[in-house]
Amino acid sequence: MSHRVAVLAGDGVGPEVVAEARRAVDALGLGIDWTELPWGSAWYHEHGRMMPEDWEEQLSGFRAVLLGAIGDPSVPDHVSLWGSILELRQRLDLWANLRPCRLLPGIPGPLAGREPDDVDILFVRENTEGEYAGVGGRAHRGLPGEVGVEVSVFTRAGCERVLRLAFECAAQRRGLHLLTSATKSNASRYGYVLWDEVASELAAEFPTVRYERVLVDALAARMVRSPDSLDVVVASNLFADILTDLGAAIQGGMGMAASANIAPDRPGSIGVFEPVHGSAPDIAGQGIANPSGAIWSAVLMLEHLGEPDAAAMLLEALESTCREGPRTRDAGGTASTREVGDAVVASLTA
Ligand code: IPM
Ligand code: MN
Repeated sequence: MSHRVAVLAGDGVGPEVVAEARRAVDALGLGIDWTELPWGSAWYHEHGRMMPEDWEEQLSGFRAVLLGAIGDPSVPDHVSLWGSILELRQRLDLWANLRPCRLLPGIPGPLAGREPDDVDILFVRENTEGEYAGVGGRAHRGLPGEVGVEVSVFTRAGCERVLRLAFECAAQRRGLHLLTSATKSNASRYGYVLWDEVASELAAEFPTVRYERVLVDALAARMVRSPDSLDVVVASNLFADILTDLGAAIQGGMGMAASANIAPDRPGSIGVFEPVHGSAPDIAGQGIANPSGAIWSAVLMLEHLGEPDAAAMLLEALESTCREGPRTRDAGGTASTREVGDAVVASLTA
């Protein structure tokens, strides 16, 4: 059965890395039916919106969106992102963002004395509420008393679904069967405390999982000092956003990190798969961006599409390319985006 996948290559290096992810997936011979969506910052300049008004309808026949990156210096970030990726996450209720953080053999990591075996963390990011709820406002513009209010919103249902997923991941994943939940309940008294309470309630349902509650600032330090002590980490939208950039650095750079925006409680629903790096306008058009994060995101997409064997093959091809080279500059090599993509394809067709 062939799968219909929408490609939102987007801005900056997005089209460059997505092209390689697509070629790699095509080499698996699944007969994916790709549809390109021209949305993004250039589209905004033509139409005054990042995506068409009927975007939801246009996406209705798809099970997956492979997204490159959105963002361009010519459009304010809060406009481009609330008009695209944040809108997709919220309107499609893609409440979970899975971000595997592994240091692949062959990729130089920044932590002294740390080997690939030491870095294998799955981040489960709450993806629709918390600090990204989009609630707030501005008043008294331009006056000395001007205010900006940004409200974090935590619901019991929102906490419960993402925490339950994280417990399930920790129960199923080979590894430490440890779930680390990061909040900041010493300084914040409401939302994170609700989160903590729901987590402790759920912990009783998962006797095989060791649950720990940590403060997010302490967790940041622990990720650097002892990443090997972590297994599954669950955190709110903003905290996990920050922790996964740190995680990306630990796994060898932003170009390596992948993500899946999904709604696991709705089997058969659409998912959005994107590398964690942004549009990187500073290197866009040079053909040097690392396609690994995009290719890894395609692995997550194949899992979502119910193609676990193809997903495993693609991940293996990515791993072997990282191990043997070629690698892009950010990963210690000299190769182009395309050359890395070629190597992944070659490994799949060998
Ligand atoms: C990410 C990105 C986005 C986020 C931005 C582009 C809005 O940093 O996916 O991590 O903060 O979620
Ligand atoms: Mn981020």
